[in-house]
Order: sequence, then structure tokens, then C-alpha cells
Amino acid sequence: MLKGTFPIAKFQELQTPFYYYDLSLLQNTLDVIRNEAGKYGYNVHYAIKANANPRVLELIARNGLGADCVSGGEIQAALNAGFPANKIVFAGVGKADWEINLGLDNDIFCFNVESLAELRVINELAGKKGKVAPIALRINPEVDAHTHAKITTGMKENKFGINLSLLPSVFQEIKVSPHVKLIGIHAHIGSQITDMSAFRNLAIRINEIQDELEQVGLQVENLNLGGGLGIDYYHPNHLPIAAFDNYFAVFNKLLQLRPGQRVHFEPGRSVVAQCGSLISRVLYVKEGETRKFAILDAGFTELIRPAMYDAYHRIENISSDEPVELYDVVGPICESSDVFGKDVELNRAHRGDFIALRSAGAYGEVMASQYNCRKLPTAYYSDQF
Ligand code: LLP
Repeated sequence: MLKGTFPIAKFQELQTPFYYYDLSLLQNTLDVIRNEAGKYGYNVHYAIKANANPRVLELIARNGLGADCVSGGEIQAALNAGFPANKIVFAGVGKADWEINLGLDNDIFCFNVESLAELRVINELAGKKGKVAPIALRINPEVDAHTHAKITTGMKENKFGINLSLLPSVFQEIKVSPHVKLIGIHAHIGSQITDMSAFRNLAIRINEIQDELEQVGLQVENLNLGGGLGIDYYHPNHLPIAAFDNYFAVFNKLLQLRPGQRVHFEPGRSVVAQCGSLISRVLYVKEGETRKFAILDAGFTELIRPAMYDAYHRIENISSDEPVELYDVVGPICESSDVFGKDVELNRAHRGDFIALRSAGAYGEVMASQYNCRKLPTAYYSDQF
């Protein structure tokens, strides 16, 4: 069984559970992104929500990416990590006044506006500061992302974005709002999308929308296509870097750009998922009548994706090369949903073995909680050992 490589000898001294980040894999991923996006002059804003660990953020910022933020806290984290304000986009359906003000004070690149009500508030707050807020309208392109229902976002009557039918009234409002300037349109159809046809449909849909906009005399400088590129949770060792080449090529082939138009993306998961693993120890091996449980010291407090989305994460016993057996791999939290996987093939497990939950760099550490009065997980990095 091919497993990830980890500095296990160094792990012996460490208290589990913890996150381990392979910063050289992150750097290789960033090299691929820069290279592939660079071919077409595309602008990439890393979606901070996927992982806001300061060292991860600093490395991404140093590689010249911008940031996609969904809260004031994320804007602050992005600025602290060295992302330039003029590469920060700010999205979110519920931006509080202080968060909008923080964006205005720092002269961020763009506010992705999700409703008419929000547009009015941004206009008012920018007016108070004597500023003009650059905005992009987040539209619902009504493209099905064919992904998990809890992470699909681009359909009609979703809480996100503005329905196409409402666009005319929003344009009217922009005309009478002197403190906002329309600089772009934005769309995001969902997350963990591995079927390129969803992105093809998005590109085609954006072309149609651009045509419609032109009919009412509107042209925007920027197109922001959101994030969503999926990763291979099943083969993190074979396919550690997402298909950025195919992804950008789809848009390059299909998007009909107007002269001078700039294209932006907001990938999160595909940038950071594979570089992170949650490292845990087996506390107990419990033999049931028919099933065997590997009870870990990590639970959904450290990695909630399996409990919340039925998500698959590859699980490896990195301490053992003994024959493979089937285990239900579970955490210590007092909830029956605290299960990482059922019938998982693991090399025979013993108390104290290290278990790696792979592809946990995205929506892992950042979604951790303190439920059951647990401590938030710590993080270690490959260059520390
Ligand atoms: N842009 C917008 C407007 C978004 O809503 C998202 C993700 C992204 C970009 C980044 O998408 P990505 O490239 O990471 O797919 N916690 C869930 C995923 C939630 C995604 C929310 N929005 C999970 O663990 O699967």
C-alpha cells in the first residue's frame, strides 16, 4: 500500500493530534498554478477560507497570488500574511458594516456584491468616507456543478449571488449610486468539481451573460470565475497536484473576452488540500462482535468533513506495515457521527500507531472547533524537521 512520506521519528516527541503541512508540495503546487495561469495572464486569488494558517498564507502570498476573503477576519489575516490589498477580493452574503469599512479603509481590489440591499449599504458607507467602492456583481449563472448538495452554490434561489432576472434592477441602482463603481462580474458554481464540463458550461454561460450585458450597453473590465476545482481525495500520493492545466485551458478555449478584459479565479481547496495531513494516534483498538474499531485521538473537532459532508479522506497507518485489516476509524467525540471512515483498509493497528488523514489541508484546520472543551489543533511544517 503506497503511503505518504512523513518524518515519523520526529513525530514521536509530538503531542497528537496535529496538522502536518508539506510546504515543498505546497510550493510545487504554487509553481504549477503560476505557470498555468501565467500562460493566459489570469489572476489567481487564493480563497483564504480553505486554510488560514499563517505559514501557509505567507508562502502563498510570497508566490504572488491575491486573496479571496469572506470576512473582516480573513481580510486582516490576508494583510498580515503579506497579500497586497490591491489583490484582495471580498465576497460573502452577509458583510457587516465594520467588515465593509475595513475593506474600504484598505482600498481592496473589489467587493463581490451579493444583493441589492448590500449594494446600497456599500454605497452609503463608501460615501461617508468620500470613496468609490469597486464592485463586482455576483451572479447565479445557473450552472449545475454536479457536486455535493451542501457545497453547490451556483443555482437559482440559492442564498448566494443575484439571480439573472434581477440584474436590470441592480444596474438601475448602480446608476444612481455614486459611491460604487461596477468593475466586474463574479460567479462561483460550487466546490470539489472534477468534471470539467461544469467549467465548460460556466464559460459558455458567462459568454451569454456578457452578450446580454452588452445589449444594455454594459461592459465590465473583470470577469471572476470563482473557485471550485476539485482534487483527488482517493489518490493523494499519485495525484498530489490538481488539474490546473486542464482547468485554465477550458476557460482559455471557451471564454470570449472583450479587449482589455482581465480574468480572475478564486481557488481554495486545489491550492492547499494535498499539502496537509491530520496526524493522530490510535488510542484503542476495540474488537466488536463483527467489527473492529480504531479509536483515534482526533475527532470531528479537528476534521469535520467526513461528519458534515460524508466526505472521504484517505486514511493510512503510517506506523505499521503489517497485513491490512478492516477497521471503522472513529474519533473520541461523544457523538455517533464522529466517524472518519467505515471498513477502512489499514495496516494492522496498535495503540500508539500514527494514523494520517490525508488531503486535509483544505477545510481542515480552519474548520476545527473546541467542542467537548478540546484544544484547537497545533500545526507543524516539513521545514521544521
Ligand atoms: N469563491 C467562492 C465565492 C466560494 O464560495 C468558495 C468556496 C471558493 C471561492 C473556493 O472554492 P474551492 O476552490 O475551495 O472549491 N467546507 C467545504 C467547502 C466549502 C466551499 C465554500 N466556498 C468542504 O469542506 O468541502
